[in-house]
Amino acid sequence: MYTSRIAGMGKFVPENVVTNDDLSKVMDTNDAWIQERTGIQERRHIKKGDGNSTATMGVKAAEIALERAKISKDDIDMIVFATLSPDYYFPGCGVQVQEMMGIHTCPALDVRNQCSGFIYGLSVADQFIKTGMYKNVLVIGSENHSGGLDFSTRGRGVTVIFGDGAGAAVLTRSENEGQGILSTHLHSEGKHALELSLKGPSTMHWVPQLIEENPQEDIPYYPYMNGQFVFKNAVRRFSEVIMEGLQKNNLEVGDIDMLVPHQANLRISQFIQKKFQLTDDKVYNNIQKYGNTTAASIPIALCEAWEEGKVKEGDTVVLAAFGSGFTWGSAIIKW
Ligand code: ACO
Repeated sequence: MYTSRIAGMGKFVPENVVTNDDLSKVMDTNDAWIQERTGIQERRHIKKGDGNSTATMGVKAAEIALERAKISKDDIDMIVFATLSPDYYFPGCGVQVQEMMGIHTCPALDVRNQCSGFIYGLSVADQFIKTGMYKNVLVIGSENHSGGLDFSTRGRGVTVIFGDGAGAAVLTRSENEGQGILSTHLHSEGKHALELSLKGPSTMHWVPQLIEENPQEDIPYYPYMNGQFVFKNAVRRFSEVIMEGLQKNNLEVGDIDMLVPHQANLRISQFIQKKFQLTDDKVYNNIQKYGNTTAASIPIALCEAWEEGKVKEGDTVVLAAFGSGFTWGSAIIKW
């Protein structure tokens, strides 16, 4: 019986730091409002001409992950790329990464599950490895939000939250049962699809049609978020899916060595921490520095926690995410 374990992780964020004060120069917002509501102090944004895109940032994170895993790109059996902000409408970023990294003709798959994308990707990779079909799978989460946000005051409720960056993990086969990914748990509830969404450009909302439908300036090609509704559902689903993972593995909250929640909003993480009565050293947050990077947030945070020595061999690590769809999920890992 095979299991999969994370053999190496990498992360990449653009150099360009955008503080709350920087945003307040282009829209009616302020540092106090943003920090109080979200905990975010700054985020990274791609700068025009710096050579970064969703795919290239994914490549940079993947190269570090492969080096740390000591696995050659030639031994990758599959690429799974999670993003809601691909470089192109089609094809997906997975094949771009394949070409940019010179990886052979293995399958490359894009996952469209927004903030839960990395956990969905991890779960897909885990299944392929567990069945014995593949040995090494590269899982990437990467986002270029800044390229598609509304930087006028109209967009401030959404725009201040999101940042750019990428994280990657190399999953490899292990025969050591009880180590690696113990289980993954995935859910979705499509009835709330439009509560956190970007309608177009798409086949239903093509640009000329958008302009025709919205002769003024309110063209819906910026993200929409029903913030308080998202908040309520997020805290509920985060709690449920963490408990589901623990119960499946006969674990208790006290067994958690590190919880790495999707970095949606510091208030959401703090709510979960309080609910489970976890001490500060058992929850990893870095949204203060990077904002919400959706599919990239968990791999960036997990990579950073590992780099800082906060995730160690033998630790029980819990990953949990909630996001647009709604989709949510968790992964229970014995590091
Ligand atoms: N700066 C200043 N004022 C603002 C800003 C801003 N950036 N954005 C909104 N406001 C104003 C609004 O216009 C409103 O003003 P009004 O009362 O005069 O009408 C006021 O602040 C309150 O607005 P709300 O939208 O009601 O603010 P709320 O307290 O709900 O906070 C927030 C908004 C932070 C988005 C909150 O709803 C939230 O945390 N939601 C969770 C959603 C989330 O975290 N999403 C992350 C992405 S999804 C994911 O990853 C799961």
